[in-house]
Amino acid sequence: MFTEEIEKLKKREDAVILAHYYVDGAVQAAADFVGDSFYLAKAAAQTDKSTIVFCGVRFMGESAKILNPQRRVLLPDASADCPMAHMADAEQIARLRAEVSDLAVVCYINSSAALKALSDVCVTSSNAVKIVSSLPNKNILFIPDENLGNFVRARVPGKTFYFSGGYCPAHASVLSSDIESERSAHPAAEVLTHPECRADVCAASDFVGSTAEIVAYAEQSSRSEFIVCTEPGVLYELERRCPGKRFYPVAPVCADMKKITPESVVRCLERGEYTVELEEKAAAAARRPLERMLELGSRK
Ligand code: 13P
Ligand code: SF4
Repeated sequence: MFTEEIEKLKKREDAVILAHYYVDGAVQAAADFVGDSFYLAKAAAQTDKSTIVFCGVRFMGESAKILNPQRRVLLPDASADCPMAHMADAEQIARLRAEVSDLAVVCYINSSAALKALSDVCVTSSNAVKIVSSLPNKNILFIPDENLGNFVRARVPGKTFYFSGGYCPAHASVLSSDIESERSAHPAAEVLTHPECRADVCAASDFVGSTAEIVAYAEQSSRSEFIVCTEPGVLYELERRCPGKRFYPVAPVCADMKKITPESVVRCLERGEYTVELEEKAAAAARRPLERMLELGSRK
């Protein structure tokens, strides 16, 4: 019933629906493209539909709008925002640019358009190591997520990293003691973790990767049980792709991702709300690092 309604409205509005793995399973089921942040940014850059409905948080809709200034981009809930997206400030960026020579400002895509506009290149959790490795700069200011930044630092030797101290409240709340107790409850399980988690949680895990990489890992693993340290919305895709395997979530839900409900998607298409609006000068400044990410991230 919900799916039929969505299909009708999608045709009427010439819309494509993109959904992140963290939103409600019923919303993922109705979407045309479901994936991690990098996959969705590429899908947004390639669509030929006049309207993009982004089922995710504000920075995702903003990135889609930045890459598609001529298209209408809709968010089902205007208040769904990622708290980490604002955890860096313009003053620190300007100060470090003045003080540190040969510096690249690397901005996780989980950031406001204003922060992207102050950066040299964007990254997602699935391409951050590859992109930072490819930069010629000796010094890296990695904003806003310090946990992802530390994950990259450990894999890219020879560079000096600076951080703005941001974190994801959901992922950073997982402790290594949680992993220990889950391992005792499920001794045959492998631990799959997102790099937004703390360094000691990543070190206590069997595999660390983006949501898409976690799904791909679980699919090819010969194990049948997994402890999952990322937002539990990803269990919808894990269970769909890995029938017969069992998944035990550890991280709490992301309250903002969970604001995207089937009802809000229907309302969004019916009323054409809520449009993402960005001033063209600000969007142009944020487009440069995003396009550089798409270019560097897609290189073989
Ligand atoms: P990925 O989609 O890159 O795995 O990132 C997870 C996330 O926190 C998105 O908000
Ligand atoms: Fe932001 Fe964390 Fe929610 Fe992702 S899971 S949108 S990083 S608060």
